[in-house]
Amino acid sequence: MEYPIEPFKIKAVEALPLTARTERERHLAEAGYNLFNLPSRVVTIDLLTDSGTGAMSDEQWAALHRGDEAYARTRSYERLGEVQSDLFGFPYFTPVHQGRAAERVVFEVLLQLGDLVATNQPFDTTNANILARGAQALELVVEEAYDPVSTHPFKGNIDLGRLEGALKGRPRPKLVLITITNNTGGGQPVALENLRRARALCDRYEVPLYLDAARHAENAYFIHEREEPALTIREIVRATFSLADGMMMSAKKDGLVNIGGLLCVRDRELFDRICQNMVRTEGFPTYGGLAGRDMEALAQGLQEAIEEPYLRYRIGQVRYLAARLREAGVPLFEPPGGHAVYLDALRFLPTWPREHLPGQAVSVALYREGGVRAVELGTLAFGERDPQTGVWRFPRLELVRLAIPRRVYTRAHLDYVAETVISVYRGREGIRPLRFVSEPPSLRHFLARFEELDPEI
Ligand code: F0G
Repeated sequence: MEYPIEPFKIKAVEALPLTARTERERHLAEAGYNLFNLPSRVVTIDLLTDSGTGAMSDEQWAALHRGDEAYARTRSYERLGEVQSDLFGFPYFTPVHQGRAAERVVFEVLLQLGDLVATNQPFDTTNANILARGAQALELVVEEAYDPVSTHPFKGNIDLGRLEGALKGRPRPKLVLITITNNTGGGQPVALENLRRARALCDRYEVPLYLDAARHAENAYFIHEREEPALTIREIVRATFSLADGMMMSAKKDGLVNIGGLLCVRDRELFDRICQNMVRTEGFPTYGGLAGRDMEALAQGLQEAIEEPYLRYRIGQVRYLAARLREAGVPLFEPPGGHAVYLDALRFLPTWPREHLPGQAVSVALYREGGVRAVELGTLAFGERDPQTGVWRFPRLELVRLAIPRRVYTRAHLDYVAETVISVYRGREGIRPLRFVSEPPSLRHFLARFEELDPEI
């Protein structure tokens, strides 16, 4: 597998924390075996998330100095508006401080108790914001999304038959929300044709179509590669958003910034209601909780994220790590998605009962072995336990996500990650099961603490 040339050179560096195994043992115990509790200063390669962890370019750092810090309708807001309109084409937009702010505002304006939202698969904050309105998300992703070995090119697609069934049903969903790429299901792309057909169904049943566009540029690259090679990335991005009535974007991913987001709509009356909510909660809608300089960096980042050499490197880097692991027999969720390599913990530890939290146990083992921090997306993140009976409802997949921050790690870093994972895989009989010692009723994944059991158990 070839490693793509990085289309940049390095101008500022940050020291990488190196720790001894005995220190890592202590840090794990102190963190209650929950990797969210580890201080970043003891993490050597941090693959917890690709969100807000990317490196800005020299042009973005330069743009910070142009930040207009007046209160309302600043030059920075106008510049961001020009880029938004040029790339995405929405008539109305407001910046927000991050993706979940856009979710909350849109759902407060659009949803009421008992409403349904038809999705491919919602991200966890999206789902939580839907539930907070007393509404419910329907997960209608294609069946291949649950099969870790299917190499279907667009495993993020919404199942159009099930979508039509939901749109015919009662109550009719208030909106359709498609996440590009589908982070919950392995960072898998959604095809343009799938979006076109979903749009046609939304027209037929008069339901608005929204996109969760956190990773829209990576999605566009997959479309370019697998579906529409004659279109440029820019044309694909434009075509994608032309199908939507609105979009919410965490710009901490493909916006190439450390903080920020966008909320865009076509409907004027709806936008007025969004603005009223924004003024009360997030900030005046020409800054939405961001500084002028944040908007400048974002305006620049949005343009860099759709450059083809950047995306070829970005997706190529993820594929390179996947290929090294696959070669060594490490079970992966296939094919690798846009922003992360996902390990399949159920094939990694095939004899384990799910109650022993195999995904979390593998994540702990990766930190212990090499100071690599990953995140579990399985029983801990998505499972439920009946508070009365203690009986579990397990999610269909048990994944460990190695999310690659944008423009941060080099090939040598990825080789180090590969060696760490391979070594944990080869020594997998030594991985220790986990048991909860404290299990908060919500947001368990961030707040729970565990103890380790003996490997034999
Ligand atoms: N939508 C998707 C698809 C996401 O992946 C995220 C965040 C959000 C919305 C929320 O955006 O963090 O800016 O408020 N995902 C991060 C992750 C946290 O690690 O995957 P936010």
